[in-house]
Amino acid sequence: MNHLIAPSILAADFANLQRDIELINKSDADWIHVDIMDGMFVPNISFGFPVVTAVKKHAEKPLDVHLMIVDPDRYLKNFKEAGAAGMTVHYEACPNLHRTVQYIKELGCRAGVALNPHTPVALLEDIIADLDMVLIMSVNPGFGGQKFIENTYKKLKDIKELSNRKNPGLYIEVDGGVDSTNAAKLVEAGANVLVAGNSVFSAPDPSVAITNLKKSGALSVS
Ligand code: DX5
Ligand code: ZN
Repeated sequence: MNHLIAPSILAADFANLQRDIELINKSDADWIHVDIMDGMFVPNISFGFPVVTAVKKHAEKPLDVHLMIVDPDRYLKNFKEAGAAGMTVHYEACPNLHRTVQYIKELGCRAGVALNPHTPVALLEDIIADLDMVLIMSVNPGFGGQKFIENTYKKLKDIKELSNRKNPGLYIEVDGGVDSTNAAKLVEAGANVLVAGNSVFSAPDPSVAITNLKKSGALSVS
């Protein structure tokens, strides 16, 4: 499959969110990445259900909701109702991860698990077959515009190898510091969904930036 692009609206202009969603609608983007932060799991607060509901009203592409929150089970139903197509929870925030993943699926959503930079891919060995997506954090979660962590390439190769063995249809998403300089190499290492915030919304033309990410390394993907 060709890789997907999921612009992160964390870097959008919140006072002009409808405009930025419409920009994504018209672009080559595949999903809209929605970052939820609770000030507990990560040292930042982003936005909650009313904003997701408002985004959904204008979005013509699936909402890829990334939950950087403790005990996400409490709110999965609310995010589904707000319009999530996929929900990704953090490995580090879910003591009963298998139950959480089953719950996301019961709600009819694509189920993803995110790994912080320090969390090894091998910990997913016994759950990988149940997942629709793994999100590899390439920065520490909590903020946009951070520097990309180079060890991500190794982790992508590890998850790609695990996916080949146990779940070949897995979405492998990479999130944090993704731009046109590393996109092709990330796809080559195994990523098939690229999240990009700052590199899209700080670009002179965000739509062109999305197209460039979409074209990056496109021929090297199987
Ligand atoms: C970080 C978020 C990311 C963030 C990416 O905690 O999960 O989705 O929006 O932003 P950039 O692409 O600017 O690093
Ligand atoms: Zn994210």
